[in-house]
Amino acid sequence: MVSYVVYGRGSFNQLDEILAPRRVGKSPMIFLLDHFFQNKPLADRIPLGPHDKIIFADVSYEPKTKQVDALATQLKQEFGTVSGIIGIGGGSVMDLAKAVSLMMNNPGSSADYQGWDLVKYPGVYKAGIPTLSGTGAEVSRTTVLTGPTRKLGMNSDFTPFDQIVLDPELTINAPANQRFYTGMDCYIHCIESLTGTFLNEFSKSYGEKALNLCQEVFMGEGDWGPEHDDKLMMASYAGGMSIAYSQVGVAHAVSYGLGYLLGTKHGVGNCIVFDKLEEYYPEGVHDFKKMVDKNKIEIPQHITRGLSDEQFDTMINVSLGMKPLWENALGADWERKMTREKLRALFEQL
Ligand SMILES: NC(=O)c1ccc[n+]([C@@H]2O[C@H](COP(=O)([O-])OP(=O)(O)OC[C@H]3O[C@@H](n4cnc5c(N)ncnc54)[C@H](O)[C@@H]3O)[C@@H](O)[C@H]2O)c1
Ligand SMILES: [Fe+2]
Repeated sequence: MVSYVVYGRGSFNQLDEILAPRRVGKSPMIFLLDHFFQNKPLADRIPLGPHDKIIFADVSYEPKTKQVDALATQLKQEFGTVSGIIGIGGGSVMDLAKAVSLMMNNPGSSADYQGWDLVKYPGVYKAGIPTLSGTGAEVSRTTVLTGPTRKLGMNSDFTPFDQIVLDPELTINAPANQRFYTGMDCYIHCIESLTGTFLNEFSKSYGEKALNLCQEVFMGEGDWGPEHDDKLMMASYAGGMSIAYSQVGVAHAVSYGLGYLLGTKHGVGNCIVFDKLEEYYPEGVHDFKKMVDKNKIEIPQHITRGLSDEQFDTMINVSLGMKPLWENALGADWERKMTREKLRALFEQL
């Protein structure tokens, strides 16, 4: 679990104090800042010490193992070691920060650690500060990376942040579409966790709260306001806690296939898939469609049209590789229920 949590509007202003005891000699704090904030006021609010560095992270594409390895190598060459890595941004930047922190202290490539409990040593100090709400990356024990052969996280006990700062003010400028796609990631986490075979009271307690908050935010009356940002940030936290002790399900397993082959981003990819999952999540999909309408969001259609057999096979392989997700969704005998043919038919609908 994350060791230290700060929540509240304006809590970003406490960052200097929070980091002070974590500074080791002259080793710098590295701030990985989402490139969206280049030339924006937030960049000037970072409490930069004399040796610190801001690196703007280009997240036009979701994080890759190559990008993580390059950043860690660059930091090791430039500084030897660092006091910490502070990720400020959406899920992509938070994942990058977690992975770079781990790769400062683990040999080889981050691709070697894609899987479950493969990371050998703790990383350097790492803090996460979300500027979009929904992924739960701020609390999860994984960092999702696209590697040479798969899209899979570095799931380990060393992966969670040491500190998170949850300041809903930072999400204020998120465009409505992006806010919805990332928010739906949280909603889908809740549905997949609450209907999954891995469900337990821990996951249920957090999942139900997160689901209520998502419903209030996306199905309630009135225009979007600060209280919606406040609620969605806590929904993301609770949704992340829920899947920490269970798993996600069909939408995520299929969306990973899209992401790997087509580069479809996580939030929108989940929405594209979830829209077609009535068979697996009837109530969840029913409400999802209502939320899409109410918030006037376009869900892209026909994105797999015209793909070759080989390309469908690639997506199917990546997707079926996510065994724990399928087992959570469909039970221990999931391989009999989700055949390659059935999955191909689902991909063709997207
Ligand atoms: N580690 C986990 O547990 C976990 C869980 C779910 C998703 N993820 C990962 O999270 C990523 C998706 O994260 P996301 O949905 O937060 O989007 P994102 O981080 O990919 O960002 C999407 C876009 O929004 C921009 N952006 C960020 N903050 C903004 C703001 N305040 N205003 C305007 N634009 C802003 C970014 O620059 C980017 O262009 C994927 O890489 C996915 O794999 C990780
Ligand atoms: Fe997700």
